[in-house]
Amino acid sequence: MSLKVYINGEILPQEDAKISVFDHGLLYGDGVFEGLRAHNGRVFKLTKHIERLFESARAIFLEIPMTAEEIKEAIFTALRANNMKDSYIRLVVTRGVGKLGLEPRKCSNPQVIIITDTIQLYPPELYAKGIELVTVATVRNHPESVNPRIKCLNYMNNILAKMESINAGATEAIMLNKDGFVAECTGQNIFMVNGEELYTPHPNSGILKGITRDTVIDIAKGRGMKVMEDFLTRYDLYIAKECFLTGTAAQIVPAVKIDGRIVGNGKPGQLTQELLKEYRKLLANPEVSETFESLETGYSRP
Ligand SMILES: Cc1ncc(COP(=O)(O)O)c(C=O)c1O
Repeated sequence: MSLKVYINGEILPQEDAKISVFDHGLLYGDGVFEGLRAHNGRVFKLTKHIERLFESARAIFLEIPMTAEEIKEAIFTALRANNMKDSYIRLVVTRGVGKLGLEPRKCSNPQVIIITDTIQLYPPELYAKGIELVTVATVRNHPESVNPRIKCLNYMNNILAKMESINAGATEAIMLNKDGFVAECTGQNIFMVNGEELYTPHPNSGILKGITRDTVIDIAKGRGMKVMEDFLTRYDLYIAKECFLTGTAAQIVPAVKIDGRIVGNGKPGQLTQELLKEYRKLLANPEVSETFESLETGYSRP
């Protein structure tokens, strides 16, 4: 069955879900996006994702032509149109159609696109085995250039880093910032365990402030752990007892090798596994995952 895609209020079959070649989202990567997940009909941290979308849009002077509540409704409309309870949701807002040339003010009608599909970043065996990471030469975007806090449509920085990790035979790339501090991976945040403490790069290290990252910090603090958001070096990575990556698509992935050095005993760490278990439990928790029914929007079901 063909997937149905939401574009500007319409639900279209995948084959007809098209936008103009003059859209600046395509021509210049001018736009913002979010990646969310639905589990059993609940969208995890929906409000947080929508807030981040609006913040990204504000940072690039992009006015989203819908309210947060309308976007929530649209997400559930797309899920229902596909009869999907479990899904990876890609929410995209492009600058819209314009003339050739960068001028964003000449673009009309930002396009709001919602794709509800599935995603598998890594095969399941890698969660059991752990992945190998390498630090790469491609530096994470300078915060005064395109701040990595903006989840924008231009991911070339990340794609170049990803290519480097592929060329090096590793699963994922660790990007450093302009000062040489650890930033993040190409689509995930990074954590490490040292002593009794959990460490992750400071939000001003040149990272996207991941929603999974913040969730893991909360889980760890709830367990009474000390969590340090810090400026971390490759040395900190090399002496880590455990290391893992976080992201909406990947959830929590253990890393067992960094730049050829074995992490801990070379197996996914104990704490990493416990955090993943707790994270997966949270996905079903109504307090953090919104359902269609939890929205009092007046939208009538088809
Ligand atoms: C560059 C980057 N870092 C981190 C993340 C993780 O963010 P979240 O946990 O909100 O999915 C993503 C997610 O897409 C990302 O693109």
